[in-house]
Amino acid sequence: MNGILVSCKMKLPPYNIFPTIISEKISLRQIQSSDINDIIEISFYDAVQATTAQEAIEMQDKINKNYLEGDSIHWGIVENATNKIVGTCGYYRGFDKGAGELGCVLLPQYQGQGFMTLSMSLAIDFGINNIGLNRIYAITSENNDKARKLLDRLNFIKTADLEDQELEYELKHDSLTGSVLEQA
Ligand SMILES: CC(C)(COP(=O)(O)OP(=O)(O)OC[C@H]1O[C@@H](n2cnc3c(N)ncnc32)[C@H](O)[C@@H]1OP(=O)(O)O)[C@@H](O)C(=O)NCCC(=O)NCCS
Repeated sequence: MNGILVSCKMKLPPYNIFPTIISEKISLRQIQSSDINDIIEISFYDAVQATTAQEAIEMQDKINKNYLEGDSIHWGIVENATNKIVGTCGYYRGFDKGAGELGCVLLPQYQGQGFMTLSMSLAIDFGINNIGLNRIYAITSENNDKARKLLDRLNFIKTADLEDQELEYELKHDSLTGSVLEQA
């Protein structure tokens, strides 16, 4: 009997060197302790928002631990022209069955300029081509129009209505096989 051997080996975090992804306008890089003061208001863990630098540091420690345990990868998004952090994005809560859950947040002053569409495109490309994900999804609330527009733009479709007015979106399968960067 003829058979085709399909390799589905995943390359999960952590990596020997934390992956930095550089594009023309933005870069995704590891968060440093010197970044914390800039990202307090966009530091979240388990949907709880930090209100002090100390809380943001504690959240970052947990995120780093999750990365070392192979359950997440969290990038700071840097605008190349200014070297300022504009937001964060990454994969969170594990990679069960080859699926990655994307999350993202921008500082308010950097919203409405296209930063997250670019960042998520890079993170999706990394998820497909480096981690080896076979499914990429995101969860947002029904009334989060900005997040829903972002996910539409990135070729996600709504796949489930969850509890508490939350929605699940999934990257379309044709995007999983092609390069999403070409569509961004
Ligand atoms: C979700 C979130 C990241 C979306 O931010 P955003 O600024 O709308 O997304 P982008 O950075 O991709 O910018 C796209 C917007 O900038 C506009 N824009 C302006 N200049 C642009 C440019 N040069 N290139 C691309 N887009 C540009 C686009 O038209 C678009 O606006 P629109 O949605 O009104 O059509 C932001 O609302 C946020 O941080 N929310 C809180 C956290 C959250 O909800 N996370 C989602 C979890 S799934």
